[in-house]
Formats: sequence, C-alpha cells, structure tokens
Amino acid sequence: MTGSTQAVERIRAQSAVQPKTALVLGSGLGGVVDAVCDGIAISYSDLPGFPVSTVTGHSGTLVTGTISGTPVAVLSGRSHYYEHGRADAMRPVLETLKALGVDTVILTNSAGSVRADMTPGSVMLITDHINFSGLNPLIGEPSDARFVSMTAAYDPDLAARARAAAETEVLHLHEGVYAWFPGPSFETPAEIRAARVLGADAVGMSTVPEVILARFFGIRVLAFSVITNMAAGMTGADLSHTETKEMAPVGGAKLTSLLKRLLTDIVT
Ligand code: HPA
Repeated sequence: MTGSTQAVERIRAQSAVQPKTALVLGSGLGGVVDAVCDGIAISYSDLPGFPVSTVTGHSGTLVTGTISGTPVAVLSGRSHYYEHGRADAMRPVLETLKALGVDTVILTNSAGSVRADMTPGSVMLITDHINFSGLNPLIGEPSDARFVSMTAAYDPDLAARARAAAETEVLHLHEGVYAWFPGPSFETPAEIRAARVLGADAVGMSTVPEVILARFFGIRVLAFSVITNMAAGMTGADLSHTETKEMAPVGGAKLTSLLKRLLTDIVT
C-alpha cells in the first residue's frame, strides 16, 4: 500500500466529509480553520508521508469539515524548501489530496510586497509566478508527465470567481506575480529591485512547488498572498519573521471573509 493510500484510509476512517476543495494555509493564516464547521483534526504526524513542519506559526494539522456548506480539507502547515533542502516535500500531501478526490486547491501564503501601492494588510490574487530558485519538485520524476504545462497554472475561471467574491465582500483584491525565493534569509534590496524589474509584485518562500505539484496531479489552483511587509529595501525597516507572523492576521481576516464567500460557489 502506498503512503498516500494509507493516508487516505486514515482520513476516511475519521471523517465522512468528501472534500473536492482543499486549502493550504500559510504562516499566521491558521485563523481560517476557525471558519470550519464540524471539523475533525488529524495531525500530520499520523498521516504517512506528511511533512512535520519546523516553522513557528505552522501547526501541521489537516482539518476536514465544511466552510459555507462546502466540504473542505484545510491544511494548516506546509513544508518549505528552506527547512530541509527538498523541493518535493509537499508531494505526498498533494498526492493524498488527489487520491481523496480533491480537484481544486486554494493556496495561501504570507509575502513581501514589491509594489509601493500594495501595503501590509493587503490581499493579492496570484495570477502567475516566477521561480527564482532554479529548483523544481518534479526533478527526478521519471515519467513524461513531468513536462507540466504552466501556461495557465493559476486557473483563470477560479480567479474570475475570486474577483467576483471580492467585489461582493467589498474587498480590494490586488493581483500580481509571486516570485519564489528559497530563503530562509530574506532577500537583499538588490534582489528585490531585480525582482521588480523582472515583473514580480510579491516575494515569498513557498507555494510555487505546490502549484507545480498540483498541476502535475491535475488539480486546479487558486492562490492568494497576504502582504505582511514591504520587501527588503523598500522602506527603512528591517525584516523579521516575527513581523510576518504579527501582520499575517490583518490580511488574514480579509482573506478569510473572501474564502468564506468564495466557498459558497466554488464547487464544480
Ligand atoms: N520575503 C520573503 N518571504 C516573505 C516575505 C518577504 O519579504 N514576507 C513574508 N514572507
């Protein structure tokens, strides 16, 4: 039996919910879990292959239940490349979600803004990404399926629904390109200037491997950044993980109301 089959069996043994939508929550965005009704929580340590996170602010729990009546699997905690040097650490998670019947994943993260008009507390719909790391979670995958198209990796239909939900919620939803830097050190001001010139709107240390893996497994992707800080060199301020964790709930509250609205009509 594969790890993902075992993980699916464990989830099914504990929860009758059959989610088609999964949410992955970034640092400090765990508050979304409070929106889950009748949730059953399973620790990643009980799910074969699931990564046990070392990042403060990331709990490592899968919760299944409903948000706005829609069955969901909510993953609090993700594995980052900078924790261990493996870009494919989230592969068992995406594989398990696929085997569970999930066809849509909503990825969230905390990010630094590269744009003066997008200030901390903002929410950004990710419309595309730039992989500045040179890494890829599909390196070593032997099948031809590794040649994944990334042309419409961020599903245009889901993005349109997110815009509509934001309008209903009277929420200003920024849009832009997320650039993945592997971390864990923050970027230098020169790297941020380079990222801006090359077309980035926000920078962060996650999400891109999950987008690639989700597309590999044929799962649709919708993704949001919560802006926790202006990127390095944009203000006189220094950057810190403490600031990221402190600021995440501000945009996180906006994102939660957007997600609740979105989940009323996201099921296919
Ligand atoms: N850079 C990289 N990752 C981040 C940042 C940042 O400025 N803010 C939150 N995550």
